[in-house]
Amino acid sequence: MQSYEEFLAEVLIDERTLNARVAELGAEISRDYQGEDLVLICILRGALPFLVDLMRYVTVPHAIDCMAVSSYGVGRYSSTGNVRVTYDLQTNIEGRNVLLVEDIIDSGHTIAHVLEMLGTRHPKSLKVCALLDKAERRETPVPVDYCGFIIPNKYVFGYGLDIDDYYRNLRFVGVVDLSKYNQPA
Ligand code: IMP
Ligand code: MG
Repeated sequence: MQSYEEFLAEVLIDERTLNARVAELGAEISRDYQGEDLVLICILRGALPFLVDLMRYVTVPHAIDCMAVSSYGVGRYSSTGNVRVTYDLQTNIEGRNVLLVEDIIDSGHTIAHVLEMLGTRHPKSLKVCALLDKAERRETPVPVDYCGFIIPNKYVFGYGLDIDDYYRNLRFVGVVDLSKYNQPA
């Protein structure tokens, strides 16, 4: 695999800025759910680092769980309406306050599908916390109750976001220069 330095066009959000914003979101969530039961749900795999950092700033007692979805369709770097759950929750969310933790909302199809599906399980409340929001790309309206950063329409990687499943470990969010990126064989 290539080293990311070869195709990094720019660092969009650096480690300090990410950490400061995640701390703010954690504080906001802690205020809003004061005295309430809460389940944070990590949408695998992109939201892993975000969830791990965020939960440590959430001071109200809470449970965590994970689910995975995949979307199939035309675009290699964009999703379609064809979303499928590949790993479901192990938690019964009926009557509970559920907060979905997502890395990025692009077209909105993925999170819209998850919201619809989890809504049928009758949670007490169901909200969305997304680190990044490519708001101008939205095809389906979705409520983003907590948003880290609104970003431009550029393909980004790092801090959970992948390119062909790599580079999720990076501590910043960067923009890829696709002309310099070699697809793995
Ligand atoms: P949506 O269904 O179009 O909103 O797409 C959401 C999913 O697409 C995210 O969970 C990401 O996995 C992926 N995605 C969208 N934009 C990017 C990006 O710029 N970099 C990496 N993954 C992305
Ligand atoms: Mg992805």
